[in-house]
Parts: sequence; C-alpha cells; structure tokens
Amino acid sequence: MIAPPHDIVFLTSEVYPFSKSGGLADVMGILPLTLSRMGVRVAVITPFYGRLSTGQYPVHLVHENCPVGYPWADTTADIYQADYHGLPVYFIERGEYFDRRHYYCTHKGDYFDNCERFIFFCRAALSAIRHLKMGARIVHAQDWHAGLAMAFLAFWRRSDPFWAGIRTVMSIHNLAFQGRFSYRLFEQSGLPLEAWNMEGVEFYNSFNLLKAGIAYADKITTVSPSYAREIMTPEFGCGLEGILTRRSADMVGILNGADYSIWSPENDQILECTYSAVSPEGKEDCKAHLIGMLGLSPRMVNRPVLGFIGRLRGQKGIDIVLEIIPELMKLDVGLVVLGEGRADYEAQLMSIMEDYRGQIVGVIGYTEEMSHLIQAGTDIFLMPSRYEPCGLTQMYSLSYGTPPVATAVGGLRDTITPYPRTGANGFIFADPTPEALLATVRKAVRVWEDRDSWRQIQVNAMRTRFSWETSARQYMEVYASLHNDLSSSWRNI
Ligand code: ADP
Ligand code: GLC
Repeated sequence: MIAPPHDIVFLTSEVYPFSKSGGLADVMGILPLTLSRMGVRVAVITPFYGRLSTGQYPVHLVHENCPVGYPWADTTADIYQADYHGLPVYFIERGEYFDRRHYYCTHKGDYFDNCERFIFFCRAALSAIRHLKMGARIVHAQDWHAGLAMAFLAFWRRSDPFWAGIRTVMSIHNLAFQGRFSYRLFEQSGLPLEAWNMEGVEFYNSFNLLKAGIAYADKITTVSPSYAREIMTPEFGCGLEGILTRRSADMVGILNGADYSIWSPENDQILECTYSAVSPEGKEDCKAHLIGMLGLSPRMVNRPVLGFIGRLRGQKGIDIVLEIIPELMKLDVGLVVLGEGRADYEAQLMSIMEDYRGQIVGVIGYTEEMSHLIQAGTDIFLMPSRYEPCGLTQMYSLSYGTPPVATAVGGLRDTITPYPRTGANGFIFADPTPEALLATVRKAVRVWEDRDSWRQIQVNAMRTRFSWETSARQYMEVYASLHNDLSSSWRNI
C-alpha cells in the first residue's frame, strides 16, 4: 500500500487501464502519473465498477465501512487501492451503485439513479480523503460526475476545520454532459438551500452537477485553449456560457497530451509490425493486415483507406460521414469505422456495409486492440466533430502517420497544422457539413496520390508531439496559484 500524504487528489469516474469509455480515462491514466513522476504527491479516487479491468494491478481492501451518510445516515463504502506504477488509485466500492454492466447507461438510456450514484461517489470520495488521512491540499474533480465535490467542499470548509485549507480545481472535458436532475434530488443531496440559485447549482430549475463544479471550484480548467474560448459563447457553451464568462479569470485551457508509451507505432505490441517516421515500411504491412483481417477488397492496398474511431453520436459527426458515403465511394477509397452509440447510426452503418461490400467495414463495439490496428492500418483519419474539447484520437492518428481530416473546432484546431501550410500534418475544414467534409477528403485523396507530398505530411504528423510534461507543468502552475508552498518539493523538469 502506498501511504499518504497526497497533495493533489483526483476524483474521476474513469481511469485507464481500470475503466474507460472515452478520452477522460486516457487523461486520468497519464496526467496523475506524469505529475507524480515530477515530484507531485498525487492520488486518484474512482468508482469500483463491476467491470473493472484490474489485470496486472491487484486491488486490495484498505478501509472497510467508510461512513458516507448518503442516502441514509448509516450508508458506508468500502475503499480499495491499487498501485499503478507507484501511483495510488483508490476505488469506492458499493455494489448497488457500481456493480453494473455499463458505467452510465445502457442502449435504452441513462441509468435512472445516476444522480444518486454520483452524489454517493463524491461524498464517499471526500469521506475516504478524511478517513484514510490522505492529507489532500487540493481536490481536483473531472467532469460532472465529480462536480458536486466542489460544492460540498465550498460549504464544508466554512465550518469544519478539517476542510478549511482545502482548495479545489474543476476540469471540464465535455460541457455537453452536465448531469441534470430534478430539484427533489438536490433536496436529498445534503447541500444547503442557499446553493439553489442561478450562481450555484440551479440551472433552469434543474439540479446541474457540472454547474455545481463550475460555480464552486476555486479554479476551472478545460482541455484545450480553443475550447476554453469557445465555451464562453452561446454556440459552444451549452447554456453555461454566462457563468463560464463570469468565472473566466479563474479559467484556463490546458491542452491534453498523448501517452506515447501506449500510442506509438514504434513500440506498439498490438500491431502486426512496428514502424516509425524514419522507417515507415511497416505501416504498409499494418494496412495489408487490416485489409485482410476485415475482409476489405485486396485492391484497397493501392487506394487510400479512411478510418473513423469514436462514439457514434452527433458530437463526432458520424452522421456527416454517413451522408457522403455514395460520393465518397466514387473516389474508390476504403472506409473502416469503429464505434458504438446511437442505435440508428449503428443500423445505418451495418446497412451501408452490405451495400459496399469490400469497401466499407463497420465494427460496432468498444475494442481497444482494434483501435490501435485501425490507427496504424488506415491512411487518412476522419474526425468531422461538431465540437471537440480536445480530442485524443487525432493525436494518436498523427503519431501513427495517419493524417487527420478534421473540423476547425476546439482541440482539433489546436493540434492540427492544415495542408497546404508549412509543416502541415493534416487537413482542416471550417464547418461540419457534408459538402465541406467531402471537399476536404477529395483534397486529401489528391495529395495521397502524390506519394512525395503525402510522405512529407506523414513525417510531419509522426513528428508532432503533445507532451504530458508540458501540460502537467501548466497544471502545477494552477495548483501553485492555490497553495504556493506546494511547489517547493516539485522537481521542475
Ligand atoms: P471522447 O473522449 O470525446 O470520446 P477522445 O478523442 O478524447 O474522444 O478519446 C476517445 C478515446 O476512446 C480514445 O482513446 C479512442 O481510441 C477511444 N475509443 C473511442 N471509441 C472507441 C471504440 N469504439 N473502441 C475502442 N476505443 C475507442
Ligand atoms: C472528452 C472530450 C474529448 C477530450 C476528452 C479528454 O471526452 O469529448 O474531446 O479529448 O474528454 O479530455
């Protein structure tokens, strides 16, 4: 067991490799670890899901019956811990809330008790900080699931000396998911009535858990500088642009990094063969392997194959891809889609797969291995997102020499240098429309046909690096602005 104190305690609903449904898990699998390697004493608290992948990191009980007091006075949680490369990860266990097949929802919709589940998580996590004597100086919450912890702490520290010195940071990974519930659930949460107002947790008469985080955290971060600006506008603010603008002096956009120990073609053990910018030959083999494995027509070896990996939802623009299929197929390109999400998009994908056998393959589901094989085995990566707080898949596609075709939003704007600019590593278009996507894919295919130009873009892509150390240093600045004595033990590397 790794002993406290931990200066920064992260509260998150997902952390790779234990749980993952998207980029938040990737970030939580590497940011705390990077900080701890830079001398920051860090811990992570997350739910103990039924489908936790503990694999090579055994999890053991460290505290039984930790009092939570929610929803009933005598409710408790068991706290488990794993050692993830020296980083302590604590798991909140209570079967009735977290031992389920999915994290948040099934195909039929959200779990009916999500509010109760995550109020419980926040209260149990704070109770664990206290009862395990974690020594937290800063509690750093991620997304709506942890937002309420910011509100509890803001009120508790007024009257309870244990919490008085604690400071808080709220990170927004996706403003579209806010966790909105009814007033009845607010009444049961244990927050004082004074929190129910426009500058607090109330949002058009609903109880908004992300807004709670935004309203009460000492500092707010989001995952790219462009998204930090965008969310202060009605177009991207999802109704919270007002409060975000009022809090802008305390808000900063810090670009995510990529974990190159997992996402580099030169050391990726999942691939058929490895490759790099200096010896790129292996990428052709990866492509041939993917084509064979998925049953794409063998002629696709000599044509560009497009890849798409992501949640099949409006955010990611899968509908825009589906809309241009007939025109896309006229370019004689292949298309591989990996994702799960809305049932109608899944069904549409299955049906076009029938129509264009050998040219389109859709893999419905969530498979980590397949995502690596597609990053390596395709030529062009499609990311026509309507909004993108940061986006990690385009960072991975750059690393794998698969230049992205993406919209000019959020983190995509901050990570892609568009062709024909000097140093171009991908292609950007302004509006998420079928016409713009099609025109930009056409452009990319033309450049792909000119082998030398394409090679240059690929090399630029593979050399583009998003270092977590750079991002971690910016988080350290945020922490130091809240407790300036903290930085004395940090290695400034
Ligand atoms: P978001 O968090 O909005 O889904 P990101 O680009 O930040 O988008 O991160 C998505 C992460 O989830 C990446 O690691 C990506 O590889 C992974 N991912 C998304 N869909 C799938 C899928 N169907 N199978 C495997 N991995 C997936
Ligand atoms: C969210 C965003 C994505 C971001 C990820 C990690 O899921 O949709 O853009 O990369 O969080 O911060």
